[in-house]
Amino acid sequence: MYQFDIAATAKPDLYRDLLSALDALTADEPDAVANMANAAALLWEYLPDLNWAGFYRVIGSELVLGPFQGKAACIRIAIGKGVCGTAAATGDTQVVDDVHAFPGHIACDAASRSELVVPVVRGGATIAVIDLDSPSPARFDGEDAAGVEAIARLLSDRI
Ligand code: SME
Repeated sequence: MYQFDIAATAKPDLYRDLLSALDALTADEPDAVANMANAAALLWEYLPDLNWAGFYRVIGSELVLGPFQGKAACIRIAIGKGVCGTAAATGDTQVVDDVHAFPGHIACDAASRSELVVPVVRGGATIAVIDLDSPSPARFDGEDAAGVEAIARLLSDRI
């Protein structure tokens, strides 16, 4: 059993604690699926107000669903499509306050109102994205983006 002392309320502190817990969880484990699964579980448990948290992996010209928490989701997304596909195509974090206003947004869970997607980059190429969905509009801000980007950097050679 793993127990983490993550009780911070200020976002930078919360993400610092999450990063350190995730570092401890993944440091000695070479299996990518295990590390993505534990990362999704940690994000899901400790970040408030989410309805989906997980990974899509870049495989050829598509994103393919990876380990996640939340409702069963779209399995394959073309690079360039939707919020996840845009993050993968551009290599840029996407912070979307209102998913209904995002051209091409792919509704996997009708409850989703806002979304944060962060590319995981290795050797200059995007190898996966971390996708967080919330039922609240404008749930994610620059502090969330910075926090999840740090997690993506940590995981880049562990998934
Ligand atoms: N909404 C995403 C699709 C993935 S689900 O949210 C899990 C998108 O537009 O890329």
